[in-house]
Amino acid sequence: MRILVINGPNLNMLAKREKDFYGGKSLEDINRVLEAEAKKLKVRISFFQSNMEGEIVNAIQNATEDKIDGIIINAGAYTHTSIAIRDALIIFGKPFVEVHLSNIFSREEFRHRSYLSDIALGLITGFKEDSYLLALKALVDHLKKTQS
Ligand code: DQA
Repeated sequence: MRILVINGPNLNMLAKREKDFYGGKSLEDINRVLEAEAKKLKVRISFFQSNMEGEIVNAIQNATEDKIDGIIINAGAYTHTSIAIRDALIIFGKPFVEVHLSNIFSREEFRHRSYLSDIALGLITGFKEDSYLLALKALVDHLKKTQS
């Protein structure tokens, strides 16, 4: 089973962003924890980060060729704006989990809208770096249940 973790704009700057929202761990720290958990769960995991919308669309398109079974995505600010990322995920056609470190519903009104939530398998928002870990466990659990 193969999982792809996609991070959007400014998530490469996590360690330097508002600690109260994002927890202060770097993306590398988060990915290391995910890698260890993936090993335990006996799944393959790969990582992609970009600040550019089109590159994220390309990564989602490539996921089908790479035989990715499910995606974990934190699209950052593109969550609230990107129909292109939404469309790419619809074309991908397999389950994805939407992740946010902060609780997007407890922040500014413009963050309450997500172009991804209604087509996601699920949404995990507000658990800082643990949001990714929860997403990985939930996604793998779902895939194991539905693939067997
Ligand atoms: C975020 C929330 C978004 O509103 C914001 O633009 C981000 C990070 C989060 O993980 O909490 O860049 O996706």
